[in-house]
Amino acid sequence: MAARRASLTIAAMNTLTSSSATPSDEGASPQLPRIAVLATGGTIAGAAADATNTSGYQAGVVGVDQLLAVVPALSTVARIAPEQIASVDSKDMAMPLWTTLAQRINTLLAEDDVDGVVVTHGTDTLEETAYLLHLTIKSDKPVVLTAAMRPASALSADGPLNLLNAVTVAANAGSRGQGVLVAFNNKIHSARDVVKTSTYAVDAFQSPEIGALGWVQDGRVEFQRSVVRPHTLAAEFVIGANWPHVEVVVSYAGVSRITVDALVAAGVRGIVVAGTGNGSIHASLQQALAYAASQGVAVVRSSRVGSGHVMRNGAAADDALGFISAGSLNPYKARVLLMLALAAGGTGPVALQKTFDTY
Ligand code: SIN
Repeated sequence: MAARRASLTIAAMNTLTSSSATPSDEGASPQLPRIAVLATGGTIAGAAADATNTSGYQAGVVGVDQLLAVVPALSTVARIAPEQIASVDSKDMAMPLWTTLAQRINTLLAEDDVDGVVVTHGTDTLEETAYLLHLTIKSDKPVVLTAAMRPASALSADGPLNLLNAVTVAANAGSRGQGVLVAFNNKIHSARDVVKTSTYAVDAFQSPEIGALGWVQDGRVEFQRSVVRPHTLAAEFVIGANWPHVEVVVSYAGVSRITVDALVAAGVRGIVVAGTGNGSIHASLQQALAYAASQGVAVVRSSRVGSGHVMRNGAAADDALGFISAGSLNPYKARVLLMLALAAGGTGPVALQKTFDTY
């Protein structure tokens, strides 16, 4: 039923968009920057049975050509080279797709006639993909992710303007060297800092405490701060197909040690714990994690709070327990960094702590 509803809506959208020309190199001035738009799915490419439905829709069913066709203004900003990389609901994002996406972006950006890349993505795991790309893209050309909270079929869909703004940011010379960016709801965020903070609002992304890097509106791009930690060309990580097994566990009232013990028995390489407060951990979970660390599992302490940072040797004796502090990375971004660090041969809490302190 859901699939039938979605295909009806897609047919309706095809009718809606078939009269508009897809923006491409042909419609735009040859002087404009050439931006590759890589579509991966998400709500920005979602369709529902009717225009008032913004929660019961199918993500990732509208193709990249249709997404571009409803934004004719794109041809005044850039020459667009569209590619459909995937059509997934980003809750199902998986590491092989990360490998494909990062490798494709690296290939495109190595070409002289590609000036930047925009990735359309689901909002649910956008912050993880953005940070992964921030650490593995080998170019200082702009890479900008965008998304939408309302499906393409919705009244006041936010995807078209987010897409136009993302291309505007990618085409702007000031975006070069800023690492991977997220353009969403007129704000420009760093991939390192941005997190999804609302399940429904169109202003769904924030960079807690530190704030956005800048803004984009009506073709104007302004940066108000820059990114301090190393990324892209200055990062030591190389995208590959080797993804060490790293999981996230959560500390909460009455938590047992069952999950951690099972992960250790399963041969996990790393565990990120989303602790309470300043990365504090329930005593029973902490015991299990200390055992995990003694077995060579990399244990990273982060916080489930959503902003702030975790102080090394603050709420837990990291030195004695063999733990690593995630600093200001949330648990999901800490997992991305830990996987990359382990894949690069990083080992032991001292070296891994240095990695977390650097990135
Ligand atoms: C997704 O993440 O693919 C679905 C949700 C969204 O994009 O808002």
